[in-house]
Amino acid sequence: MLKGKHLLEPTDLSLQELEDIFNLADSIIKNPKAYLDCCKGRLLATLFYEPSTRTRFSFEAAMLRLGGQVIGFSEPNSSSVSKGETISDTIRTIACYADIAVMRHPKEGAPRLASKYSNIPVINAGDGGHQHPTQTLTDLLTIRSLKQNISNHVIGICGDLKFGRTAHSLVKALSRYKSMTFIFISPPELKIPDYIIDEVKGHQLIQTSSLEEVIPQLDILYMTRIQRERFFNEEEYLRLKGYFVLDNKKLSLAKKDMIILHPLPRVDEIAKEVDTDKRAVYFKQARYGMYVRMALILKLLGDDTCVKN
Ligand code: CP
Repeated sequence: MLKGKHLLEPTDLSLQELEDIFNLADSIIKNPKAYLDCCKGRLLATLFYEPSTRTRFSFEAAMLRLGGQVIGFSEPNSSSVSKGETISDTIRTIACYADIAVMRHPKEGAPRLASKYSNIPVINAGDGGHQHPTQTLTDLLTIRSLKQNISNHVIGICGDLKFGRTAHSLVKALSRYKSMTFIFISPPELKIPDYIIDEVKGHQLIQTSSLEEVIPQLDILYMTRIQRERFFNEEEYLRLKGYFVLDNKKLSLAKKDMIILHPLPRVDEIAKEVDTDKRAVYFKQARYGMYVRMALILKLLGDDTCVKN
């Protein structure tokens, strides 16, 4: 039973709970109209202390498509945060009004702190360079839908692996599936942290700074942007920006059935010419993100049995 739980890291969900969420997302995709009233009378609060397009809008769209309603802020200075209110007091107050809360924060661990003071489910929508579990649900549902299963793949994760929370979350989640090969592709300065490497014990692991060298082996290529907002030094960002650019020339080296994922936003790491290649599935991925968040909301609110299959 997921009712009432918080989601702070992807491993808060067992593999069976993930499968249940994906099965529910599949049912919603097949028949979205059946779910139109499942969250009638429910309220979702979005607390975004950092900018977002996909995560905030997909959560809001998800709740509205379930018949619920949404309150929140996308600019913390428009709330009493600007007067110095703490996270614990903010979430205690929001919990008086809403049934479920989604929080993005630049500080690692902020949603976990909020969850300790909340009697409604808190969902981590990205905390600093740490974790982004609902992006991971999106990525896993995309892989499962387009590659038939999540196990037994060679995945290349490319870009800023030091600061990229989507990469950290995805590796943590995929390491629980069978027979994965992880190829981490990053500039030497932006290598994946050791604590994430520790998660992939028992799987094959390669680290490289050359996308061309490894792209022919990949079943899945997960591109990420260089995380400008996490750099202390703008010059360092400018030096590393543009380190990887996936274009049609590089793509010609890849398998015909490789899929290209990207959590988005994209900056310059995927050339626009790639968008029309059938392997480019990042906008489909964004749509899966809405469906999987619909399924997650239903599960955490205990409203998942509103449609009898
Ligand atoms: N993928 C993702 O988290 O996008 P946003 O920052 O636009 O929410």
